[in-house]
Amino acid sequence: MAVVCSPEKLMNILLVHAHPEPKSFSSALASRAREILTKAGHTVTVSDLYAMKFDPVSDRRNFSTTKDPDYYKQQQEETYATEHQGFSPLLEAEIQKLEAADALIFNYPLWWFGQPAILKGWVDRVFAYARIYGNGKLYENGLGQGTKRGLVLMTTGGGPDAYGGYGFNPSMETILKPVHHGIFWFNGFRPLAPFLAWSPAHGDDAFRHQYLEQLDAKLANLFTESPLELPPMADFPNYGKDSQKRFHVTISLNAVPDATFNEMVPKEKELVAELRRTGRILDFQMTATTESEWHAYAIFREPSREALDKTLATLPLFPYLNFDIRELAQN
Ligand SMILES: Cc1cc2nc3c(=O)[nH]c(=O)nc-3n(C[C@H](O)[C@H](O)[C@H](O)COP(=O)(O)O)c2cc1C
Repeated sequence: MAVVCSPEKLMNILLVHAHPEPKSFSSALASRAREILTKAGHTVTVSDLYAMKFDPVSDRRNFSTTKDPDYYKQQQEETYATEHQGFSPLLEAEIQKLEAADALIFNYPLWWFGQPAILKGWVDRVFAYARIYGNGKLYENGLGQGTKRGLVLMTTGGGPDAYGGYGFNPSMETILKPVHHGIFWFNGFRPLAPFLAWSPAHGDDAFRHQYLEQLDAKLANLFTESPLELPPMADFPNYGKDSQKRFHVTISLNAVPDATFNEMVPKEKELVAELRRTGRILDFQMTATTESEWHAYAIFREPSREALDKTLATLPLFPYLNFDIRELAQN
């Protein structure tokens, strides 16, 4: 189900910015995002973590209360602090910003395939057990209720080929899983496709300026873009395995491609991309053009074989295709 917030409604946006240099391109993205979203009438709160000298170390200093002075167990102390208003004033302020946010934006440079420690520490401390998550408050039942949005704005050193899935680094999709799934979606914020400013330091001002313009367009759709859909908690009864099935589908041609086939290829690609966004296709690969016979291989996630058949029948190229379908085992 695509969730779209009303674009007319003015929203609260929390922009968490994590770059130590105010003159960096990452900081330019943060300033631009603030400016554009404020101009659109939204309320933008910025946590500029380096400017705040935010302490990323999560320990007893998170709290004014103590549940167990002999053994520090963070989630236990967070539960106690939730019940006794025991978060330190600085943390309480950040938690309240998070609670008020309709959209949460992380703006950071890619460091060691992840976030700068100051941002990871902000998450470790601010997303507090009992107050923000836990006790059933997870995924679509979490703080974001499956309607709020999460967006990564990122600068990188490496270029898109290095992160495209066929490069020497892991794919950007893999790198962003801990943020998209582990932080945003785990807490009910639906992740949007990330905004990636590749290698800004390797280009000139005109090259960087293009990114700023692309950012304006991206943020104009912050509340209307269809988010990436990750599986809801409801699909995993009793915190167990997926109630949906997975199928390996080998797709081959049953007819020689003609003009109509070629005309429909862009529509086919669009639909495959949409099925990937909605989580119906988990993986999709195609044979190289050097192969004499064309094949595609896809992993589908569907409630049943019948549902899969219906989805396949919606493919624009369906009349030209054969499907060899195998249900996958749940390991
Ligand atoms: C500690 C550190 C770790 C880095 N790790 C990566 C990395 O894993 N992948 C990458 O592409 N670039 C990496 N870089 C390069 C930065 O991502 C790049 O310099 C930055 O995004 C450029 O934007 P800026 O000019 O706004 O800082 C790293 C840089 C530093 C300082």
